[in-house]
Amino acid sequence: MNKNIAVIRGDGIGPEIVNEALKVLDKAARLYGHTFTYTDVDMGGCAIDKYGDPLPESELKKCLESDSVLLGAVGGDKWNNVPGDKRPEKGLLRLRAGMGVYSNNRPAKIWRQLASASPLKPSIVEKGIDFIIVRELIGGIYFGEHKTSGDTATDVMAYSESEIERIGRIGFETARKRNKRLCSVEKSNVLDTSRLWKKVMIRLSEQYPDVELSHMLVDNCAMQIVKNPAQFDVIVTENMFGDILSDEASMITGSIGMIPSSSLGDTTVGLYEPIHGSAPDIAGLNIANPIGTILSAAMMLKYSFDMSDESDAIEKAVYDVLEEGYRCADIMPSDADTCTMVGCSEMGQLILDKLGGPSI
Ligand code: IPM
Ligand code: MG
Repeated sequence: MNKNIAVIRGDGIGPEIVNEALKVLDKAARLYGHTFTYTDVDMGGCAIDKYGDPLPESELKKCLESDSVLLGAVGGDKWNNVPGDKRPEKGLLRLRAGMGVYSNNRPAKIWRQLASASPLKPSIVEKGIDFIIVRELIGGIYFGEHKTSGDTATDVMAYSESEIERIGRIGFETARKRNKRLCSVEKSNVLDTSRLWKKVMIRLSEQYPDVELSHMLVDNCAMQIVKNPAQFDVIVTENMFGDILSDEASMITGSIGMIPSSSLGDTTVGLYEPIHGSAPDIAGLNIANPIGTILSAAMMLKYSFDMSDESDAIEKAVYDVLEEGYRCADIMPSDADTCTMVGCSEMGQLILDKLGGPSI
């Protein structure tokens, strides 16, 4: 198969981690007889420096014309003082909205080999951590009006029933393919948007009698994720709650550097990115963990290109490399002499070397 992938390296560690993912994609293409062509797209701080705009229309167009987008990370202190609507992150938000990718899927799964990297007690980790956060991605407070007037600032949070319903459906469908437990997370004791959210979820649940729906307030959910993460199968929530809870969920699995994500709308053209940021403090030092990006590329193969074997082979290669004790700095246990610390490019190369498949 031929696929055209738009590649956004972005800022900070973005270029380093994306380069490793591209090497892995190239090898998967070779092994399985595909051709991947890459179109470079400027977005984020680098685009501000080049064009004065974090995502010029011409760059967005390249993404919309691609079969899917692979993104490293954007942002950095250098652009902290540019106005809100010109910040690097604004490029990312425009990209998500422009692509219509309302459903962001963030797995929180602990790798057996990384159990000791979790900050949770072993007795909690042993019960298992394997759930998915389905985050609404192009609505809510991120996309409401932002205004500062005099000494007062306002950010508007709005949701319509149809926006809730389409992400709710993804939540139910995701749960249906797993252990059939969906937890809808909101703040319905305070917010109108949350009361609407809950009402729509209850209505939708009539169409999914095989899925057990529960409701949880977001503050309680933040607590339950560290107290008893094994209780969760799929969590569905609005944009900002999902942003916060997914950082928390990633941390209990050992490191945010390991977690990939997919963002999809009504077509197969998706946006794939690790959930971590651009980490400018370690940029260019070859110590970033490329696994979140490599696994994001694997998700792209599975969810956008229907290449499950290829995707599974990449995940297996990551598993094997971890099994052999190789670790980047973020997942290096302080007490383990059985592990070897490697840099970003070495980790990429190790995964590449392990990647097997039906040579053609
Ligand atoms: C994420 C990030 C982004 C978000 C930022 C960079 C705008 O934190 O993908 O979780 O808040 O969505
Ligand atoms: Mg975030």
